[in-house]
Amino acid sequence: MLRLIGVLLAFCAATALAQDYPTKPVIIVVPAAAGGPTDTLTRVLAAAMSNAMKSQFIIENAGGAGGIIGINKAAKARPDGYTLLLYHIGMSTAPALYRKLPYDTLADFDTIGQVADVPMTLVARKAMPPAGFAEFLAYIRANRDKVTYAQAGIGSASYLCGLLFMSTIDAQFTQVPYKGTGPAMNDLIGGQVDFMCDQTTNTVPQIRSGNVKVYGVTTARRLASLADVPTLDEQGLRGFDLVVWNGLFAPRGTPKPALDKLVAALQAAVQDPAFKARLADLGAEPVGLAKATPESLRGLLKAEIDKWTPIIRKSGVYAD
Ligand code: MLT
Repeated sequence: MLRLIGVLLAFCAATALAQDYPTKPVIIVVPAAAGGPTDTLTRVLAAAMSNAMKSQFIIENAGGAGGIIGINKAAKARPDGYTLLLYHIGMSTAPALYRKLPYDTLADFDTIGQVADVPMTLVARKAMPPAGFAEFLAYIRANRDKVTYAQAGIGSASYLCGLLFMSTIDAQFTQVPYKGTGPAMNDLIGGQVDFMCDQTTNTVPQIRSGNVKVYGVTTARRLASLADVPTLDEQGLRGFDLVVWNGLFAPRGTPKPALDKLVAALQAAVQDPAFKARLADLGAEPVGLAKATPESLRGLLKAEIDKWTPIIRKSGVYAD
């Protein structure tokens, strides 16, 4: 009898949540500093989801350790639908890069859906001497002890792009880690670091305004928003193709009625013309409906962990 009452109470609570949720703003944790690409994407998404759900979404930046600090914060948050996490490819590289992660990537999160795919760009400080990519490569090789590369910590997208770039051109350069590529971009504009590879959601406005120099895009094809910028592939780095997936997560155990409403709001966002137009202007692309689902993001996360783990283990790189 007591058990039956318990089940009934749980059912009533879930039904009440389904009707009422959300009754206060939903926090989206961004595991990187403000002003960077994850922050920008999350703010654009938050506006579209707020519109769809008629409720407020607010951003909390928790940068550091290549995203681990913020991811852990979201993993440990109360699973009540009021704390979410937006992060990217770094979710799938951290399990191999860290011998000891403070959370379990697959066990500690519910997935809501994929959000957007974001290409990257190779950008340098404005006064970087080489005019074109070939000269830039020669410059890096000639100045390998001096050239500095900005990134958002081991496991971040900028770190991974740098790693891929270094191994492709067979050169090393000094790494300068930041809590996100928002602050890294400030230093690049100020000329304190030489170059970085970062997502278009951070670089397109700075490229357009001439604050940084661009040497190429990381995708197989040119981008409509940067039509004049050649790909790294067409400039000789055959097969160089890197796009950053981004997804929306919730702490494991978030009530199903809340998750369902969040999935519906995400699906409305990725179809929202204003959301699509804003992302397109920033060189990014929202996913189609089929990818904006919990199943699709979970499948992608598993596949990406399986893809990156052997590559990272083979490289012998550890963050801890
Ligand atoms: C990264 O490199 O992973 C991102 O740029 C982090 C950020 O959003 O700042």
